[in-house]
Amino acid sequence: MTGWGYKELDGFLFNITNITNIDTIVNSIKSHHHHHQQQLKSINAITKQHWQSLPSHFYTTNHSTYHQPNQLKKTKMAKTIAFLGATGGCGLSALRRAVAAGHTCIALCRTPSKLAAQFPDRPANLHLREGNAHDVASVAACLSHPSDPARLVDAVNFSLGGVMNMAKLTLDDPDVCKKGIAALLDAIAAVRAERANDDNGSSINSSSWRPLLAVVSTTGISQHGRDVPLLFVPFYYYALHVPHEDKRVAEKSLFESGERVVAVRPSLLVDGEKPDKPIRVHVEGPGGIERKEVGYFISRDDVGRWMFDNLLQKADDGGAAQYEGKAVGLTW
Ligand SMILES: NC(=O)c1ccc[n+]([C@@H]2O[C@H](COP(=O)([O-])OP(=O)(O)OC[C@H]3O[C@@H](n4cnc5c(N)ncnc54)[C@H](OP(=O)(O)O)[C@@H]3O)[C@@H](O)[C@H]2O)c1
Repeated sequence: MTGWGYKELDGFLFNITNITNIDTIVNSIKSHHHHHQQQLKSINAITKQHWQSLPSHFYTTNHSTYHQPNQLKKTKMAKTIAFLGATGGCGLSALRRAVAAGHTCIALCRTPSKLAAQFPDRPANLHLREGNAHDVASVAACLSHPSDPARLVDAVNFSLGGVMNMAKLTLDDPDVCKKGIAALLDAIAAVRAERANDDNGSSINSSSWRPLLAVVSTTGISQHGRDVPLLFVPFYYYALHVPHEDKRVAEKSLFESGERVVAVRPSLLVDGEKPDKPIRVHVEGPGGIERKEVGYFISRDDVGRWMFDNLLQKADDGGAAQYEGKAVGLTW
């Protein structure tokens, strides 16, 4: 369907006759999702046939994590990574990859059974912890290696989010991210303080412990100009005000903390994958925009993939340094 009133954006057809009507945009996005899901089902059916012809150790539970599990272990040291908010979306995508690569992963969940259901094989390097990510003690308990408590995590992947109520244009918890970041920073400080006391005379030096904090934030909150397409500005302004205020406060705390942080700002999130579509990376440092990329959508799976490949996987070898202290926009 093309013609007057419709515009193709990033491969998706939008009715632009009434762009201030949020329902119009949301319905367009939903209809795209449905179409995309149908395409994915066909792709899944084909790739499933392909897996079944391979030895079982070559695949995991989701085709997005399809690769040789030991391949990364040969070239990279196994890391210890804490995951906050990984029962779904971007966080689960990053977690799947970290588990498949052999890293020790500690995931804090309000309902561990929800995440356990995603990993029916019960990988030995995935450790589920029950708790609320707003609780400092629960977060602090995830910051050390489960079987070697002297070893602290190399990175934390933070992807907390609330459930959007579109009728009221708010979240079930409007402060979900700011409270989560406050708890994370307090937990890091608490572990440092506790270890500093233990450090006397020991070889463990907690003062040099600086885990990489990879945090999912959002586009639409830049201080350096518009980082979303013009067409989305009314939607972002009216519909997403509440989550964006929460993210602004969360990012401010992060950047003022002095920790090694990367704020990852995805454009509008969709489900599914577009493996052949390149991910464009927008970079903003303290001095302003270093690389400008503006787009409409990206999938949760691709956000998690990018975060794993570029941040978590490189957390302790300087490979993520180019993004540290910066906000990184991701879009197709
Ligand atoms: N929607 C968009 O277009 C868009 C665009 C840019 C950025 N974002 C942001 O991107 C982030 C990730 O989104 P997503 O869709 O990938 O995430 P999601 O699927 O909504 O997952 C959110 C996660 O946070 C967890 N969580 C929430 N509060 C918690 C708490 N107090 N303690 C422990 N866990 C808690 C949830 O756990 P439970 O399973 O227990 O609920 C879930 O694992 C969100 O902050 C979202 O606002 C969204």
